[in-house]
Amino acid sequence: MPANLQQPWAIGSVEVPTRIVLAPMAGVSIQAFRRQGRRFGAGLVCSEMVSAAGIEHRNERTFGYLRVAGDEHPLAIQIFGSDPGAMAEAGRMVETAGADIVDMNFGCPVRKVTKTGAGAHLMEDPALACRVVEAVAGAVDVPVTVKMRRGIENGSRACLELGPRLVEAGAAALTLHPRSAQQMYTGEADHALTAELVERVDVPVIASGDVTSREKALEVLEQTGAAAVMVARGAQGNPWALREIMEGESFRPTREEVAAELVVFIREAVRELGEQRAVGFLKKFYGWYLGQGRFPKPFKQELVQLRTTEEVVTRLFAAAPGAGPLVDRLEAELPAAGDEVLVDRLPISVYGGG
Ligand SMILES: Cc1cc2nc3c(=O)[nH]c(=O)nc-3n(C[C@H](O)[C@H](O)[C@H](O)COP(=O)(O)O)c2cc1C
Repeated sequence: MPANLQQPWAIGSVEVPTRIVLAPMAGVSIQAFRRQGRRFGAGLVCSEMVSAAGIEHRNERTFGYLRVAGDEHPLAIQIFGSDPGAMAEAGRMVETAGADIVDMNFGCPVRKVTKTGAGAHLMEDPALACRVVEAVAGAVDVPVTVKMRRGIENGSRACLELGPRLVEAGAAALTLHPRSAQQMYTGEADHALTAELVERVDVPVIASGDVTSREKALEVLEQTGAAAVMVARGAQGNPWALREIMEGESFRPTREEVAAELVVFIREAVRELGEQRAVGFLKKFYGWYLGQGRFPKPFKQELVQLRTTEEVVTRLFAAAPGAGPLVDRLEAELPAAGDEVLVDRLPISVYGGG
């Protein structure tokens, strides 16, 4: 039977309304991204990773904050680290921040993370990985989940041995990105491995890797038996991809729609990060939004050079004059800031990858 992407499912006690999960991406998955993802059909969204080591050391430099808004739920907040006690504390903190699910990163291939014993390194230390999961599961009331790669080395099948042990230790769902840490983002995600993992565990498995179209999403669900697909790079600057995957129609947004989504995204990012951080953070998004033939190339170059986000917004309105009413409508739909929980002094990761 063809998979139905609109069918609700559950992770432990948490109901997830659709089969599309918006991936955690360091440097990308801020609140504005997560809220937009929910609007476009993601049933579950995930924060960028929060470092448990930072929590322990109270390292001022890594402190950031998380804003959790009413329209983000269900929301998974991802933590990373390798010390069971620090991870348990991090789990409690993000649960207080409003996480419906605490996700653990056992997939990050970036050396800065793996050399501390965290991320993908845990795939080579199953005993410690299980202790981490047990500690976090024992510390929080919400379901805990783990996101893994296939293993460290190319061709590794470590995830198949580790997965069932993590479930025994308390994981209520597993996400698999079936590339090795060594591969980073090269080659293809080998979802034959996802199918094998599904066979071995009795909790939902989320399939991550190379899902960019409805065709691919349905193929992965049907061939693996996974509960849901996760979309990462395909949704960068392209929330319409989520709608297309969900509904099957080809959504080619108009210039006005692209400009309006980007303006709202910019304003939300400024509210969340402050103008100074937002200016740098947003630069990569201009290329993502405006590419794909939506705007002429020099226009992106022009936006990247502007010094304030207000100037960028002014240029966008000039290039797409009809975007104004769309922005008004989108902003009117955002819940009031009063609905928001703000948790500051959290060590948000500055490293990427998973
Ligand atoms: C910029 C970027 C940052 C990422 N950061 C994280 C992260 O913080 N945690 C994580 O588990 N995975 C992270 N990932 C991995 C993605 O969640 C996903 O598993 C991977 O990109 C494969 O999916 P895709 O082919 O849809 O991009 C990141 C990926 C990218 C491209």
